[in-house]
Amino acid sequence: MSASASPADDPRAPLETERLLLRPWRDDAADLDAYLRISSDPDVMRHIADGRVLDRDRAAEQLTRFVEHWERHGYGLRAAVERDSGEVVGFVGVMRAGQPGVRPGDVEIGWRLARDRWGRGYATEGARVVRDHAFTQLRLARLVAFVRPANDASIGVMRKLGMRLEKETLCSYGLPMRIYVLDHPRAR
Ligand SMILES: CC(C)(COP(=O)(O)OP(=O)(O)OC[C@H]1O[C@@H](n2cnc3c(N)ncnc32)[C@H](O)[C@@H]1OP(=O)(O)O)[C@@H](O)C(=O)NCCC(=O)NCCS
Repeated sequence: MSASASPADDPRAPLETERLLLRPWRDDAADLDAYLRISSDPDVMRHIADGRVLDRDRAAEQLTRFVEHWERHGYGLRAAVERDSGEVVGFVGVMRAGQPGVRPGDVEIGWRLARDRWGRGYATEGARVVRDHAFTQLRLARLVAFVRPANDASIGVMRKLGMRLEKETLCSYGLPMRIYVLDHPRAR
C-alpha cells in the first residue's frame, strides 16, 4: 500500500510566516498585475540586472519562466501575500542559479518587495522560512545569493540568514557582484 503525501511533503504547499503566506507564482492576470506593479518601480529595480524597470511584456515573460521553473524542478519563487491585506507584496524563493561563478546545480535564494513594504522585516521573515524549507524538505546541500555591493538592504537579509561572503565577481552585465553562500547546517 502506498502512503499518501502529507501537506508537509507537498512542495507547492504555501509556507506561512507570522505576517506572510508564500505560495508559488501563478501565470494569471492578478499575479502579472502584482509582479508588474512591484517591478516597474525604479527604486525596487535599482540593484537588479541592468537596473531597468520591467514593462508588461518583460514582466509576463519572467512570470511564465517562474511558473515553468516550478513545473520543471518542483520548487521556485513564491509570491509573498501579506496576510492582513491579502495583497501580493513581493516574492521570496529559490531557483536554479543562472549567474556565472557558482557550482553546477547550485540553487539561489532571492527576494524582492514592493517599495512601500520595505523596512518591516518582511524579507528576513520570509527568507528564513524559505531557507529552512530548502534544507529540510528540498534537501539542498547549500544556497547561494547574488547581490550588488551597494545593495545594503539585501546584504542585511543575507547576513541575518547566516550567509557568508564567498567571492566578489562581475555579473553578466559586467557590473560588480558579490556571491554569498550558506551550507546545509549538517555540513557547517
Ligand atoms: C532587499 C529587500 C527585499 C529587503 O526587504 P526588507 O523587508 O526591507 O528587509 P528587512 O526589513 O528584513 O531587513 C533586513 C536587514 O537589513 C537591514 N536593512 C534594511 N534596509 C537597509 C538599508 N537600506 N541599509 C542598510 N541596512 C538595511 C535591516 O535593518 C535588517 O537588519 P536589522 O533587522 O538588523 O535591522 C528590499 O529592500 C527590496 O525589495 N529591495 C529591492 C529588490 C532587491 O534589491 N532585491 C534583492 C536583490 S539581491
